[in-house]
Amino acid sequence: MKSKVEQGLNEQIHAEFFSFYLYLAVSAYFTKLHLEGFAHWMRVQAQEELAHAMKLFDYLNERGGAVRLLAVESPQSEWASPSAAVEAVLKHEQHISERINRLVDLANGENDHATAVMLHWYVREQVEEEATADTLYHQVKMVEASPHGLLMIDRELAGRPAAAPAAEAEA
Ligand code: FEO
Repeated sequence: MKSKVEQGLNEQIHAEFFSFYLYLAVSAYFTKLHLEGFAHWMRVQAQEELAHAMKLFDYLNERGGAVRLLAVESPQSEWASPSAAVEAVLKHEQHISERINRLVDLANGENDHATAVMLHWYVREQVEEEATADTLYHQVKMVEASPHGLLMIDRELAGRPAAAPAAEAEA
């Protein structure tokens, strides 16, 4: 595997681990607000992020690349409001989409077709993740002045099924 692609994949593993940290931090923030449904939803998403990191980790190993685990920085832990916390998640997903797109460009530029094809899963996944975060952000923004509305969304989010363990994540 070309070293530029290897480096790009290692950086993406780091970005997915940071996503795991960020969703955990947002989950803890909602736990403190006693919005248990939001906390649950964010925690399930954290598990999905871990699965995203592990899928890249496994791919790098499979291709004989060198895995280099980078230090994961501390995420923010306090937000001004529920909508600000969800907005942080939305902005982060938009940032991850840009990263993935750049990584696909890099793989294509290096004629690494296998990596480009593998990354298409992430391109599709980001469409879904951005749309979900965007909808949640706008819904929370809409009801923020009303505790009743926030509690209704909280009840709905509590129903999110647990993520599959990383090793069983969709191929
Ligand atoms: Fe792994 Fe939410 O992007």
